[in-house]
Amino acid sequence: MSSNASRVLLSSHQIQNRVRELAAEIDRDYPHSRPLYLVSILKGSFMFMADLARALNRHNVRIEFMGISSYGSAKTSSGQVKVTRDLDVNIEGQHVLIVEDIIDSGVTLSYLRRLLTQRHPKSLEIVTLLDKPERRIQPVEVKYVGFSIPDEFVVGYGLDYAEDYRNLSDIRILSE
Ligand code: IMP
Ligand code: MG
Repeated sequence: MSSNASRVLLSSHQIQNRVRELAAEIDRDYPHSRPLYLVSILKGSFMFMADLARALNRHNVRIEFMGISSYGSAKTSSGQVKVTRDLDVNIEGQHVLIVEDIIDSGVTLSYLRRLLTQRHPKSLEIVTLLDKPERRIQPVEVKYVGFSIPDEFVVGYGLDYAEDYRNLSDIRILSE
């Protein structure tokens, strides 16, 4: 592959192992008697969502999607967040777990957490595959974190740079 993304940060094997661990934790934490609504934030978390959902050992996982856009350049989010595709289900009284690819400034997720809280779910938590804690501008309470990573721009496993690289099965650091 000719690209600017040759340094592998997390191999496919590392990711798959961690996803299984997260799923086991989630399976332990939520009652199996009630549905669990997974809300994937498009597009970046689609691959994580698919692997996480398959690793959960329960039949009543609900698969939902939301589209959020934050205006800015390809590498930073500006702080202006907008819902581009809303949920088409009522989450009132339900266990809801937001599935995100990466938390950077925290702007997107703190906005989304406020928005979904207003709909009165029974519980609302966040699972993110990646976290860049050094970059946080707005604090967000995140229950499950796959990997804390350094302040580098990463691509692959759903994450893009200008819509490229989402199909990689590992996560790589984009060089300048
Ligand atoms: P936040 O609102 O700054 O936390 O931005 C989160 C969003 O920015 C993520 O859902 C990603 O779409 C995008 N993002 C942040 N860091 C990266 C990165 O390193 N690679 C790819 N996308 C990123
Ligand atoms: Mg994105």
